[in-house]
Amino acid sequence: MYNAFFGFSESPFNLSPDPAFFYRSEQHEEALANLVYGVQARKGFIVLTGEVGTGKTTMLECLRDYMEAQFIEFAFLFNSRINAEQFFEMIAYDLDLPCSRTSKTEVLFALNQLLVEQAQDGRTVVLIVDEAHNLEWEVLEEIRLLGNLENRNGKLIQIILAGQPELDRKLDAPNLRQLKQRIVLRCNLQPFTLRDAVEYIESRLEHAGMPNQSVFPEELMAEIHLRTQGIPRVINAVCDNLLLSAFAAETKTCTVEMLDEVCEDMRLEWPGSRRRARMREEAEALQRTPFQA
Ligand SMILES: Nc1ncnc2c1ncn2[C@@H]1O[C@H](COP(=O)(O)OP(=O)(O)OP(=O)(O)O)[C@@H](O)[C@H]1O
Ligand SMILES: [Mg+2]
Repeated sequence: MYNAFFGFSESPFNLSPDPAFFYRSEQHEEALANLVYGVQARKGFIVLTGEVGTGKTTMLECLRDYMEAQFIEFAFLFNSRINAEQFFEMIAYDLDLPCSRTSKTEVLFALNQLLVEQAQDGRTVVLIVDEAHNLEWEVLEEIRLLGNLENRNGKLIQIILAGQPELDRKLDAPNLRQLKQRIVLRCNLQPFTLRDAVEYIESRLEHAGMPNQSVFPEELMAEIHLRTQGIPRVINAVCDNLLLSAFAAETKTCTVEMLDEVCEDMRLEWPGSRRRARMREEAEALQRTPFQA
């Protein structure tokens, strides 16, 4: 809507996990390098965790690009609310296994065949499960069993489980001890630091066609970082709304007043926010009000 006004070639703050906009903060760079290393070195189980909106799916999309470029076969499951039957069906579908997709036995046989063939060619196969914190125990157990397939050079299938921090807690459960023990690499994504948030905003604007941005002044970016608590998805939503406000006001510079309004509309809360203070005051006032029958 505002792209022409600011001269953007595309929207800078889309909410899609588009690798073209990938900003390589130190931790994102390290996590991606770990994932690639884990796949290349056939490490078996890799876990990627991070709070909601910190960039896990975007990172997996970058890994997907890497695997496609390297012609590595992979299955990418992004819906984890599935039972064991659906799990095997989805793997068979993604890897295009020549078998009846509804028969677990046939899928396992065809998968094994593929893994052995790939290993003979010096290649590997990858299974990625996003939102893995939602996986049922039964499916996690099947995943553990798949991870047992190996030859003398390493694991035949590399399994990447990505999810919110609950995933780590789930893997701590006594019945998942065996799976937990097999996890060789762990990566964690934290919210952005102030420096990262500033570079992140600038890199997205640059990618959209504005290399030396002046839309978000330094002090405004510091305030955006504080109020979004460094979470990339929230930064995107706030910046998108700010650009819309500036467009509506026919100005090319966003202000703290606009940010106040955007945060109010988004009902955003952050440590020390006025909304939080006001809610606390209201709750206290309610407690002081004598009960009336
Ligand atoms: N390093 C990054 N570079 C560019 N954009 C990013 C980065 N990290 C996150 N984003 C952006 O933030 C938004 C949320 O990212 P993403 O969907 O990958 O988060 P997530 O951790 O998978 O969230 P959820 O826990 O809800 O699944 C997306 O719009 C994505 O483009
Ligand atoms: Mg995600």
